[in-house]
Amino acid sequence: MIVGFIGSGNMAAAMARGWASASGESPSRMLFTDSGSGRATALADEVGGDAVASNDDLVRESDFVILAVKPASLEDVAASLPRPRAVLSLLGATTLEKLASQFPESTVIRLMPNLGVEVNQGVICMAEPDNADPSIVAEARKMLESIASVHDLPDESMDVATAVMGCSPAYFAVIAEALGGEGAANGLEPDVAIQMVAESLAGTAELLRHRTPFEIQTAVASPGGSTEAGLEALAATGGAEAFRQAYAASIERMRGN
Ligand SMILES: NC(=O)c1ccc[n+]([C@@H]2O[C@H](COP(=O)([O-])OP(=O)(O)OC[C@H]3O[C@@H](n4cnc5c(N)ncnc54)[C@H](OP(=O)(O)O)[C@@H]3O)[C@@H](O)[C@H]2O)c1
Repeated sequence: MIVGFIGSGNMAAAMARGWASASGESPSRMLFTDSGSGRATALADEVGGDAVASNDDLVRESDFVILAVKPASLEDVAASLPRPRAVLSLLGATTLEKLASQFPESTVIRLMPNLGVEVNQGVICMAEPDNADPSIVAEARKMLESIASVHDLPDESMDVATAVMGCSPAYFAVIAEALGGEGAANGLEPDVAIQMVAESLAGTAELLRHRTPFEIQTAVASPGGSTEAGLEALAATGGAEAFRQAYAASIERMRGN
């Protein structure tokens, strides 16, 4: 499958890097455009793809077009394109109805990936209209599964999912920065401190497959112990409430408030 990325920014780069190193089904060729920054050429050079002169050329050469521009660019980009066979949209807070109005003759699939796709450990939420061509959906799913676990969702759940899985790598990075930073400030090698947080996050992620969040908290925090003191300090300074507020702020921004 030839996959063309309209837009060569952060998320296009993450997906392209993921496919470049994936062991599963990957595009046979990747094409890229940008709006003049040169990022398309740089990304193509990095992952072994090709920068293309125009979005028109890219659409003509691609089996799948990945729309990887900012949501505000949707109308401008769509207006100038020939009819793509299939469009995979990464656009945040952009409904299937809105996408279909811009690409009425194409199979349009709405995706929400997170940054983990870059290392083939992403999460991708996927919504498609009832009348989507099933063979195109199956082809897309096969490629996406080589860089992420894929969750089918109704279109109306995509914004909530975005706030939970799309934004959260940045939140976990805040935790890594804070804890790793304290470790480094207090004598650990900075790289080692971040590595320790990363390994602790990976182990916790695996534990979450077997135990509830509450069970993990109580298993670590023995009464009177240091974790209990840490959890008390977290609760006193915001703790879980800070993440609830982060969720709410993201949803509010997606809804344009
Ligand atoms: N970043 C994430 O973690 C993430 C997660 C999920 C979904 N998304 C979604 O992915 C989309 C892209 O986000 P991003 O973070 O990758 O943005 P970004 O880094 O700003 O990249 C946007 C890209 O679009 C290009 N572009 C703009 N107008 C164009 C045009 N007319 N033709 C071709 N290319 C054009 C830009 O070109 P230049 O390089 O020339 O500026 C840039 O390469 C957004 O809709 C966002 O909601 C992002």
